[in-house]
Amino acid sequence: MSKGFGKCFELQDGVNDTPNPSIHEVDSGRRHVFKCTTAAVALLMGSHTWGASAGTGKPLGFTGVPVSVADTLTVPVEYEAQVLYRWGDPIGSAQGSPAFELDGSNTWQEQSLQAGMHHDGMEFFPLDQDPRHGLLAINHEYTDDGLLHADGMKTWNADKVRKSQAAHGVSVVEVVERAGVWQVMPHSMYARRITASTPMRLSGPAAGHDMLKTAADPSGTRPLGTLNNCAAGQTPWGTYLTCEENWNGYFSSRQHPGADELRYGLGPNGWGYRWHEHDERFDAAKHPNEPNRFGWVVEIDPMDPTQTPVKRTALGRFKHEGATTTLSKDGRAVVYMGDDERFEYIYKFVSRDRMVPGGYPANRQVLDHGTLYVARFDAQGHGRWLPLVHGQNGLTAERGFASQAEVLIRCRQAADVAGATKMDRPEWIAVHPQTGEVFVTLTNNSQRGQPGRGVDDANPRGDNIMGHIIRWREGTTQHGDAGAGEFRWMHFALAGDPKADKAGSRGTILGDMYGCPDGLKVDAGGLLWIQTDVSTSALNQGAYTSLGNNMMLCADPSTGETKRFLTGPSGCEITGITFTPDRRAVFINIQHPGETASERSDPDRPQAVSRWPDGPTGGRPRSATVAIRRKDGGIVGT
Ligand code: FEO
Ligand code: CA
Ligand code: CA
Ligand code: CA
Repeated sequence: MSKGFGKCFELQDGVNDTPNPSIHEVDSGRRHVFKCTTAAVALLMGSHTWGASAGTGKPLGFTGVPVSVADTLTVPVEYEAQVLYRWGDPIGSAQGSPAFELDGSNTWQEQSLQAGMHHDGMEFFPLDQDPRHGLLAINHEYTDDGLLHADGMKTWNADKVRKSQAAHGVSVVEVVERAGVWQVMPHSMYARRITASTPMRLSGPAAGHDMLKTAADPSGTRPLGTLNNCAAGQTPWGTYLTCEENWNGYFSSRQHPGADELRYGLGPNGWGYRWHEHDERFDAAKHPNEPNRFGWVVEIDPMDPTQTPVKRTALGRFKHEGATTTLSKDGRAVVYMGDDERFEYIYKFVSRDRMVPGGYPANRQVLDHGTLYVARFDAQGHGRWLPLVHGQNGLTAERGFASQAEVLIRCRQAADVAGATKMDRPEWIAVHPQTGEVFVTLTNNSQRGQPGRGVDDANPRGDNIMGHIIRWREGTTQHGDAGAGEFRWMHFALAGDPKADKAGSRGTILGDMYGCPDGLKVDAGGLLWIQTDVSTSALNQGAYTSLGNNMMLCADPSTGETKRFLTGPSGCEITGITFTPDRRAVFINIQHPGETASERSDPDRPQAVSRWPDGPTGGRPRSATVAIRRKDGGIVGT
């Protein structure tokens, strides 16, 4: 919905008008022209070469697919795709398995035992050392209430609010492959839904702070629910990190919000979810601290269905896109995170303590102690991590930060003061498992280049409607430490048609073209998978016309070769990507098939845009998890 929906396109969000990045801005005549070639990299890196160990160096081993505007999912001819877990499908819990009603008439109680809507980030957790048996943890980012209820939003009541809340959050489902077919296990001891009402815990430096206390929870440590769970991550100790992105849209604030509320995009009536009309918790005029209990990374142990999810305040409060974890050389957790909004920042958390053997029980405090940094991208491919630590970098009481808790709760404002670089909407971050090289998608920013919001070395294009991908290496050597305080960066790709880009050929895509990169993962073999999210309001129009529906591509980081692997049905976004440990299956999510350009779906014409995945008799389009395998059982992508 163009006027304020929970999805990730350009909306009336928070406002970052701080002048801090001006020191990086350069005039366009000085912009550097880089291609992803070894020669350009060597130039950038001085004596270092960039590419040798990243990627496979072999041609991508599948037949690429053409762009498509068809209402179907297309994969390479050597592959097969299977719809596994649709919105409304039973989670397979012991408590019961209510079937999906094609007209959207399931009750909120039934919805709480079914797949939520609008699947997004997702991770696979193997069970029993069997690569074809495991748990999928899946985010349900937001709802299209035009599809969610039989008559959409024509009427509105407390039960509809409860159903919308039950369709948000996370699924944990047990999946297994038998004779080449994946299925969700019934009667699973692990199956679980986490929703917008699930009891949770706040931990870390900000837990219990006055700004987190409410009338219902004077302790400031017992929030309810998680919202707008976008991308996700998996920790090396086996937990799921789910990330709260556009949570502001669910709250109705007072008529004239203050500066802190505006910085996070809070406003009267929110984005049209209308929860506050029947659930006072979302009326921020009455409960001004309730929004402070969202905007966090939430840790879930998928192996323990009784675990209380934990909001980790040490990782900061913003509009979290994702949380990608790796380890420093001495075994500390390093979590990379984007704040997806125009002119927002890239963050990294480095834990104080090392990871130890023993899974979550032995590592349940790792994400509570450590240092949060924000990225400054300087010229000439240099970069620095700025600590967001009370008393450093201007984060003092005189500048409005009384404690570390306030630095974390007002994390965007802290990053402003520290002098971070404003980016073109940071979405997913991926780490190469062998080299430690890091990739980030900057999905787009149509306001880049406007007065006072100039281009810089890292965000070099005005009116950047196609987005770009940056890669960096930690430290100053080729195999630096993830815990380092500085980094070296360059562009991996400037998306879109290079012929349409008057600025030249920096980071030209070598192969199939795409726009608005969002989902991103490096698999265990070093291949980079790129998923796109051209917003529905722009899909197949103007400069995006030649791109067709949203897609997933595979790229070799060492050569730059990029090939289109998959195209999605009408009106969808491709997101969520996770592999089985043997890489013989990849799971992806088709989010919001059939989404309309400007409004929530019309309940009288639910199939107006898409009939995916169930066809003409299916009732309504449904977001779904899809399992993809090579027909010969081989390793995906190779
Ligand atoms: Fe929910 Fe920024 O994508
Ligand atoms: Ca989305
Ligand atoms: Ca997006
Ligand atoms: Ca996204």
